Amino acid sequence: MLGNFNKIIDRSKTDCIKYDLRRETFGKEDVIPMWIADMDFRAPECVLKALRERINHGVLGYGARLDCFFKSIIDWNKLRNNREIDPEWIVFSPGVVPAFTVSTLALTEPGDSVIIQPPVYPPFFDAVKQNRRNLVCNPLINNNGYFTFDYDNFREICQKHHPKVLILCNPHNPVGRAWTFDELKKLTDLCLEYGVTIISDEIHSDLLLHGNQFIPTASISKEVENITLSASAPSKTFNIAGLSTSYIIISNPVLREKVQNVYNHMHLLSGNVFGNLALQTVYEQGVPWLESLLQYLSANAKYATNFINKRLKPIQTHLPEATFLMWLDCRGLNMSEKEIDDIFIQKAGVGFNLGTEFGSEGDGFFRMNIGCPRQTLKTALENIEKALK
Ligand SMILES: Cc1ncc(COP(=O)(O)O)c(C=O)c1O
Repeated sequence: MLGNFNKIIDRSKTDCIKYDLRRETFGKEDVIPMWIADMDFRAPECVLKALRERINHGVLGYGARLDCFFKSIIDWNKLRNNREIDPEWIVFSPGVVPAFTVSTLALTEPGDSVIIQPPVYPPFFDAVKQNRRNLVCNPLINNNGYFTFDYDNFREICQKHHPKVLILCNPHNPVGRAWTFDELKKLTDLCLEYGVTIISDEIHSDLLLHGNQFIPTASISKEVENITLSASAPSKTFNIAGLSTSYIIISNPVLREKVQNVYNHMHLLSGNVFGNLALQTVYEQGVPWLESLLQYLSANAKYATNFINKRLKPIQTHLPEATFLMWLDCRGLNMSEKEIDDIFIQKAGVGFNLGTEFGSEGDGFFRMNIGCPRQTLKTALENIEKALK
């Protein structure tokens, strides 16, 4: 197996959010951090080697994204997603959060309605509210832990609020769904019918577990591609989120120009030499490492699902189809979020994300990050088992 995913790496004192902000987040440092979405694994050797060589050169002036940078994105999308894209469709972004935030700003006016589908990644709420747009929620339907879209409510929202934009999470953080072709077809049919532009956050699109398949939203049809902006990055896939490099694929030239203009006006297009180099390197050379990672994460997900459903009752979870995040339904404990969080932090010494960070629909749920060595996962789950007893 490429990449030693079992190795426990001490990340404290590396200025990282996950470990070095534990006191601020959980009130104490002695907590196994299973919250913010980065993994505890070293990035692939190919990228570390490329970055070392770049540092050894010693001059770190402004970088340029040359043809090889764009070619690596084009080849990756063809290879992994069977999607053909043109180089001019690619808009650089320093992150996927900036990508959907800037796109929302560019494509809507203050007061326009924007749909999101909670429980969902918290910055989706901010992208709408902080831009002074009208937030309209179409909550996912929870079928015993397997979440689906609510098409009827989506239609009602379209008729009532005339939304301009849907910010879609595909695959979905935190519920771990990889939306199927049929699900995306039904949803995008509604977007076409009601003139809703789709900002599709596809940052987790390489992290498909157990052989599941990722369906890019824009691949549903040419018509859907024409109304879709696909934001992606190698940051989650290869654990290089600190390098702040991502991109948006926008085939429609009118939409693209609007988004590109905002980035230009804000002077946000320069990026950094390490991020550019890292993206190109992992997209060119990272597949074997990624295949090993996916096996490891799939096994972690199965291990955690079995453990939780058998040994942490009444806590329940569903095997995630994608992402290294799991959504734990703790409502059966019949306690408040604060009381449950206290058990996790104070008694078990484990730090999760609170479900309500993902919207009020998340009350009674917690998000667990399983992008860690199996031993760390095992210790955390065993600690919780003891704490619950
Ligand atoms: C759905 C989703 N989008 C975006 C991000 C972060 O993107 P970035 O760090 O590139 O801004 C995350 C990180 O957890 C995420 O889960």
